[in-house]
Amino acid sequence: MKIAFHLLVHFSLLVFVSCYGGNGYDPLENALKIQRSRRTTVNHASKEDVTIDNSYSPVYMGPQDGLKDADKISELPESPVNSSTNPLVLWLNGGPGCSSFGNGAMMELGPFRVNADNITLSQNKYAWNNVANVLFLESPAGVGFSYSNTSSDYITGDVQTAKDSYTFLVNWLERFPEYKTRDFYITGESYAGHYVPQLAQLILQNNEITNQTVINLEGIALGNAYDDDETSNTGMYDYFWTHAIISDEIHDGILSHCNFSENATITDACDDYQSQAFIAMSNVFFYDIYTPLCSPFSNSTPSIPGFDPCTENYILGYLNSPVVQQSLHAKPVQWESCNVYINTHWQDMPFTVLPVIQDLMASGISVWIYSGDTDGRVPVTTSRYSINKLQTSVKTPWYPWMFQGEVGGYVVGYENLTFVTIRGAGHFVPSYQPGRALAFFTSFLEGKLPTNH
Ligand SMILES: *[C@@H]1O[C@H](CO)[C@@H](O)[C@H](O)[C@H]1NC(C)=O
Ligand SMILES: *[C@@H]1O[C@H](CO)[C@@H](O)[C@H](O)[C@H]1NC(C)=O
Ligand SMILES: *[C@@H]1O[C@H](CO)[C@@H](O)[C@H](O)[C@H]1NC(C)=O
Ligand SMILES: *[C@@H]1O[C@H](CO)[C@@H](O)[C@H](O)[C@H]1NC(C)=O
Ligand SMILES: *[C@@H]1O[C@H](CO)[C@@H](O)[C@H](O)[C@H]1NC(C)=O
Ligand SMILES: *[C@@H]1O[C@H](CO)[C@@H](O)[C@H](O)[C@H]1NC(C)=O
Ligand SMILES: *[C@@H]1O[C@H](CO)[C@@H](O)[C@H](O)[C@H]1NC(C)=O
Repeated sequence: MKIAFHLLVHFSLLVFVSCYGGNGYDPLENALKIQRSRRTTVNHASKEDVTIDNSYSPVYMGPQDGLKDADKISELPESPVNSSTNPLVLWLNGGPGCSSFGNGAMMELGPFRVNADNITLSQNKYAWNNVANVLFLESPAGVGFSYSNTSSDYITGDVQTAKDSYTFLVNWLERFPEYKTRDFYITGESYAGHYVPQLAQLILQNNEITNQTVINLEGIALGNAYDDDETSNTGMYDYFWTHAIISDEIHDGILSHCNFSENATITDACDDYQSQAFIAMSNVFFYDIYTPLCSPFSNSTPSIPGFDPCTENYILGYLNSPVVQQSLHAKPVQWESCNVYINTHWQDMPFTVLPVIQDLMASGISVWIYSGDTDGRVPVTTSRYSINKLQTSVKTPWYPWMFQGEVGGYVVGYENLTFVTIRGAGHFVPSYQPGRALAFFTSFLEGKLPTNH
């Protein structure tokens, strides 16, 4: 884990606390609001925003001598079994601006969870490192424990984030050359619906022309992914309506007054119905609509087995402990789950990355879209509308997949694409359904659809 931020740098600018999806802060909505208002004033996304330019210049390679020893690789939670042959997987959280280490590793799929005392850890027996060697990258620079000494680096966007992540990977593989030939996968959720396809595309492009490390990219998996602005809106309001969160009147108002397609104008009437929808929803944690809130009334008995709704607070306490920061070799900082400055200053954000996903589907790598079906933020309806726009055809029709004798979710095999739902999981799929999440992830790495028995 610590390797991920050793190459990067650390930063502290924020003074107030903002948790990813918790405490009423919604990083995705925050960034999207700014982008959407900008689209109506500035001219639309330029071509450059949509496709990463495909000229190649060698990436910066830092000297790696001695740094591997300093990283204390022996303490890394590699796979307990078959670590020398298991694939290498990069995990990215979204936001934009949220920490992959604090959220992905400590709350979702990593080997440890923080206990209610903010001090001790318990083991997550469904950690994804059971079947892979997982890297959590603090991305872009400025997020979590990473920092830059150049403050303008915190004004960034999609294109720069992909380039920097690529540079990180090439350097990391120099430092840990035993992973160079390993199968490599990229996974992530939410706004990583932008990061993952863009980074994958850059890797494939550079693999063709580089005289540096060729990265063995085998596949990507996108969880509750924000990949198209239109489907993110239509899918969300349809989900609210079909899950009894908003009235018929509000839903009808949205249907008749809102046109969410690219270049369409959002009218005042549409804005008004959207506000009404959020007011109607009230105090529901829409990253997982049926979950209890973290409140003074909730004792610390997890209501979802294994997941405590106050986990974010424990992580905040734990990662801000000086002893923990010291053992992580992190620069002492006020650690934050999400960096609001980066989030609100986000630059390029294409309206859709579906064309990038289509390129990847045709490239022969494995492309999976998965969705926790109790997420209201980037819900399963959004994923299905996006898949519809990808214009692929069904090869293996919809069927239930099984985990420990129960339906783990549903799966459809499309041409060059697999779609999997995880039943009873919210936006942070491995937090809420750790067993089902590990089962789906194992199938993904094996390149086989989850089994129906
Ligand atoms: C480890 O690898 C061996 C050989 O490929 C395989 O049979 C075994 O199931 C793997 N163990 C785990 C826990 O993945
Ligand atoms: C950033 O600045 C600090 C203080 O001058 C220095 O110790 C650190 O090495 C610098 N980091 C980088 C990546 O240049
Ligand atoms: C790789 O290519 C670049 C640009 O074409 C060149 O400057 C560099 O010397 C090459 N490096 C190696 C190791 O061949
Ligand atoms: C939106 O407008 C831009 C700039 O005029 C144009 O390039 C793009 O094709 C338009 N998109 C759609 C879906 O009409
Ligand atoms: C929505 O807006 C787009 C772009 O302006 C337009 O092409 C489309 O016809 C509109 N849809 C409806 C249903 O009005
Ligand atoms: C844990 O950390 C959170 C966030 O800093 C804090 O609100 C809470 O009081 C801490 N709990 C304990 C038991 O120290
Ligand atoms: C699937 O991949 C093949 C091989 O690259 C390509 O010819 C085909 O167009 C792709 N189909 C879809 C729907 O992506």
